[in-house]
Amino acid sequence: MSRILITSALPYINGIKHLGNLVGSMLPADVYARFQRQRGREVLFLCATDEHGTPAELAARAAGQTVRDYCKEQHDIQARAGEAFGLSFDHFGRSSNPPNHRLTQHFAAVLEDNGLIEERVDEQIYSVEDQRYLPDRYVEGTCPHCDYEKARGDQCDNCGRLLDPIELKDPYSAISGSKNVEVRQTRHLYLLQSKMQDRIAQWVNSKPNWPHLTKSIAQKWLKEGLRDRSITRDLQWGISVEREGEKRPGFENKVFYVWFDAPIEYIGATEEWAIAHNENWERWWRTDKGADDVSYVEVMGKDNVAFHAVSFPCTILGSEEPWKTVDTLKSLNWLTWYGGKFSTSENRGIFMDQALEILPADYWRWHLMANAPESDDASFTLEHFASVVNKDLADVLGNFVNRITRFCNARFGLAVPSAGVYGDAENDLIAELDKRINAYTSYLEEMEFRKAFVELRAIWVAGNEYLQIAAPWVAIKTDEDKAAASVRCALNLIVLFAVLSRPVIPFTADKMFAIFSLDPEGASRWPSDASEALSLFKGGEKFTLPDLLFSKIEDEQVDEWRQKFGAE
Ligand code: 2FM
Ligand code: ZN
Repeated sequence: MSRILITSALPYINGIKHLGNLVGSMLPADVYARFQRQRGREVLFLCATDEHGTPAELAARAAGQTVRDYCKEQHDIQARAGEAFGLSFDHFGRSSNPPNHRLTQHFAAVLEDNGLIEERVDEQIYSVEDQRYLPDRYVEGTCPHCDYEKARGDQCDNCGRLLDPIELKDPYSAISGSKNVEVRQTRHLYLLQSKMQDRIAQWVNSKPNWPHLTKSIAQKWLKEGLRDRSITRDLQWGISVEREGEKRPGFENKVFYVWFDAPIEYIGATEEWAIAHNENWERWWRTDKGADDVSYVEVMGKDNVAFHAVSFPCTILGSEEPWKTVDTLKSLNWLTWYGGKFSTSENRGIFMDQALEILPADYWRWHLMANAPESDDASFTLEHFASVVNKDLADVLGNFVNRITRFCNARFGLAVPSAGVYGDAENDLIAELDKRINAYTSYLEEMEFRKAFVELRAIWVAGNEYLQIAAPWVAIKTDEDKAAASVRCALNLIVLFAVLSRPVIPFTADKMFAIFSLDPEGASRWPSDASEALSLFKGGEKFTLPDLLFSKIEDEQVDEWRQKFGAE
């Protein structure tokens, strides 16, 4: 069986991420990684903070910190939030760490040797007062398209158009506010993506199984024709433009562009992980060192697809070195906040730390994944969230566990009853479960998360329906053995539910294992068939009564959170 390398798009360093970011890459990647581990596959799941570029420098400046200190602090905050959300990264790295510096400089060198990088002269805004060139967001001014007066150099927030800083009317420095700026000529390195057009098209066409969204975005870029792009910027913080320890003349005040080095950090993070665990990173990335049997899965929001389906492959394939390339590229649409944007500055939406202050991680994980923005953008509303949590988690799953453990305790005590044998009701249940577990497993394999979690919910519902049919509280009056067998079946179901639910609600699954003092690692192996799973407990196994797994969300709470998080 092949090994699986899974990477989530790397979150920008500037600030804790919101629920939309979470469901856009890190959470689906985590669910998939957990599922594959439970299947017994060897998984390496990596993520890191994306630390370079103007947003990091500007955010550090706003926080009154050096960029280095700011990034360290923010990295730790994001690492803690990820852990609290149950994101099971094998390593959460930093794109500013040494392996990425070395690798980025290495790729630039071989690409240049292969004729794919050249120096070009660009026109760029220079601030006389700040004595420096102003890249991207360091320039602001009036949008040439819509006359919005605070457009950023790379994009206008009012009309959404992508801009080149020299297009701005009345430009000024975002650092000093100075209007004493002029257009000057300066040199940059360009990656000659146009030369890679055919190669990349061929490579994309060799991936028939890419999901529709990914493929259509990749094809759109290929159809427009790959453009050469500048891979250097006038910044201090970043990976310096040097080769074998020598700075490139004329590039002393420049670094590589953040989007050139960020995807290379997938490899860098693997090296960081290997150093920390005394492992070998090359067997995951170099096809000449054993990576041929790696299946590589990348997960990201749709705005990242072009960089991963086109630009990063230009780097990797253009090197002519035996690097592993992505096999499956799962992309997601946007999660919106009541149809609009999540925004820190306007206090709209819920961010990862705030979410956990009000409810445990699994409530969010379930809602986000069961309603993942897969076929289209999806809107998050607190009303929908509350209704999904109350129905699926509290009424269906939580109620099942609560009801059967309490009934067993009342009538048979705190041990699985051993009397009676399974009959028609159990066999019907097993047949339905087999069908649904098969479908659920296939959807998870295909990373069709919404469809997968429709199945999981149906599996929980099947358990409740079984209890209604078997009705041990009625049977016990006339046939105690029959009641015992159905209670045993239902207690076995709790464990099966825990196994199947663990990829998405790991904290709850572990509480369910704890009812029977089962070690989650050993007990959560993916089931091969329902009949075997439902005969785990034969009778006599002791258990403890659990607390309620989920509390219902009240209307008053929804009202309070609407106020607090800017719902409209
Ligand atoms: O869009 C983003 O959030 C980027 N920080 C993603 C980078 S993914 C990878 F290339 F590093
Ligand atoms: Zn505009």
